[in-house]
Amino acid sequence: MNKQLRKVVIAGNWKMNKTRPEAIELINQIKPLADNVSCEIVVCVPYTALETAIQAVKGTNIKVGAQNVHFEKSGAFTGEISADMLKELGVDYVIIGHSERRQYFGETDTTVNKRTKAALQAGLIPIMCVGELLEEREADITEEVVSRQIKLDMAGFTADEVKKTVIAYEPVWAIGTGKTATNEQAGEACGLIRNVIAKLHGKDVADAVTIQYGGSMNAQNAADLLKQEDVDGGLIGGASLKAEDFGIIIKAANT
Ligand code: 13P
Repeated sequence: MNKQLRKVVIAGNWKMNKTRPEAIELINQIKPLADNVSCEIVVCVPYTALETAIQAVKGTNIKVGAQNVHFEKSGAFTGEISADMLKELGVDYVIIGHSERRQYFGETDTTVNKRTKAALQAGLIPIMCVGELLEEREADITEEVVSRQIKLDMAGFTADEVKKTVIAYEPVWAIGTGKTATNEQAGEACGLIRNVIAKLHGKDVADAVTIQYGGSMNAQNAADLLKQEDVDGGLIGGASLKAEDFGIIIKAANT
């Protein structure tokens, strides 16, 4: 982390978990753990729990995020939700291009680019996910894959839009597997993302971008991952569903 240069963001990705009463219960448990901390804390909840979560975090420094957004403003797109709808509800963040969406729901770099643009235009903070597959890491093409994703996913962005985007580096082989990237692997990949941005938009812009690590981050490994200069927070799945573990990760980001 480099708190002087950029915002540290600890975000929980609840994925398809928690009904409304369960969401209230978990948020109530997280509230005291989020008191007096300097980093940004976000809970990205299912669409059905957004409004409930927004009510539940009132008066705290916890922000609420969605897990996807459509790129069109309105129209005949059955089942989709627009950025303006999320904004009007009081949502602050939105995860875009998560590997589960790329893997199971046909998400591509082109749609990630359009969704992220739409989110920014509506005043939402996108958490844009990139990361390599296991076979890509084994073939030693991580740098090539992640650089290409960053270039395509952020194509046509102004420097200001790049600065407002939170990037989550999530190696696909580390998600939900219990296999965390080593501290060096995480630091190196977040560093190479920053270098790609520096080449495109200059060092000042690159230094201002928050880059999270995600993939089996937990109460045991968070502190060491967050010690990496280029790791500015975490996008946490499983461990964000346990208040105690999420609290330990928040603490690790505030020491
Ligand atoms: P896990 O922390 O469960 O590995 O999930 C990571 C993730 O996908 C966050 O978006």
